[in-house]
Amino acid sequence: MKGKIESLRQAFEAELGQTATSEAVEKLRVAYLGKKGSVTELLKGLKGAGADQKKELGQHINQLKRQVEERLAQQVETIKAAEIQREIDAAEVYDVTLPTGGESGSYHPITIVQRQLEEIFASMGFIVEDFKEIVTDYECFEAVNIPKDHPARDMQDTYYLENGQLLKTHTSAAQNAILRKYGAPVRAIFPGRCFRNEATDASHENTFFQMEGIMVDKNISISNLIYFMKTMLSQVFERDVKVRLRPGFFPFVEPGFELDISCLICGGEGCSTCHHSGWVELCPCGMIHPNVLKAGGVDPEEYTGFAFGLGLTRLVMMKYGVKDIRDLNSGNLKALSQFRHE
Ligand code: PHE
Repeated sequence: MKGKIESLRQAFEAELGQTATSEAVEKLRVAYLGKKGSVTELLKGLKGAGADQKKELGQHINQLKRQVEERLAQQVETIKAAEIQREIDAAEVYDVTLPTGGESGSYHPITIVQRQLEEIFASMGFIVEDFKEIVTDYECFEAVNIPKDHPARDMQDTYYLENGQLLKTHTSAAQNAILRKYGAPVRAIFPGRCFRNEATDASHENTFFQMEGIMVDKNISISNLIYFMKTMLSQVFERDVKVRLRPGFFPFVEPGFELDISCLICGGEGCSTCHHSGWVELCPCGMIHPNVLKAGGVDPEEYTGFAFGLGLTRLVMMKYGVKDIRDLNSGNLKALSQFRHE
């Protein structure tokens, strides 16, 4: 029996030396320690032995068992380290200048549309501003006329940091900083990623993009707002788009509107994207509330302005006929690469 234990030990070591993958090590584990494994069989074979023998041989077999376990674990580590090393070596020889064999990458559709919009607005005299994603309560809410206890906050629950800062729920969080930076008159757009604590479905995501715009000057009115919105939308969609304005409430505009466009996915007949209404809410907007101008250091007696919060993600869905908003954040290259020729 002792001889058998010893030759099993040697056989195991020899086989272990041959393993090069974690799967092979696992196979070996089953072959030795599994229910019908060689070491297990040895232990079973002790049943008929006398008490003394059982004790002595049992110790030897258990020692072998422990050894097998340890060696298997070591081998897994060695293989993993070798795999990592191989990846590192491979990465080092990766030559970024090599041709890709015809497979070029593509911009994300949101980036494509964002750039297009930036160009359109730039041609109308707007500057493009970048803004952070982590903002203060003041920037996101108080500066845009949403005090601490305002019920409008319920619609914009978000993710809070321990220091009290939060992931911005809307691009309006940049309005105050931009008014302060440029003063009046100003025309600016500021695209950005926004976050909300939302239950997700085909048309809601916890992470999405908006493009905000403000125009502040003397004698700015609702007609200016409508003109800019229409011009921009017909350029983006490269056709005449039907729009409608409904009254909408946002504490930072007065009066406030919801600008809807006729659903381009179903042509206005009704589908799941437009909740079977034929219309898609695309661009809340309105005349900037005097309190917001004041907070931004602009005199509301002298200046007026409009603001809009274009749902960039939604616009992309409409433009490309994307039915499920979740596809856009999925990282699914098959879905996203269809925009590569844009
Ligand atoms: N910030 C608003 C939202 O995300 C949209 C908005 C922007 C409304 C500008 C009016 C003016 O819901």
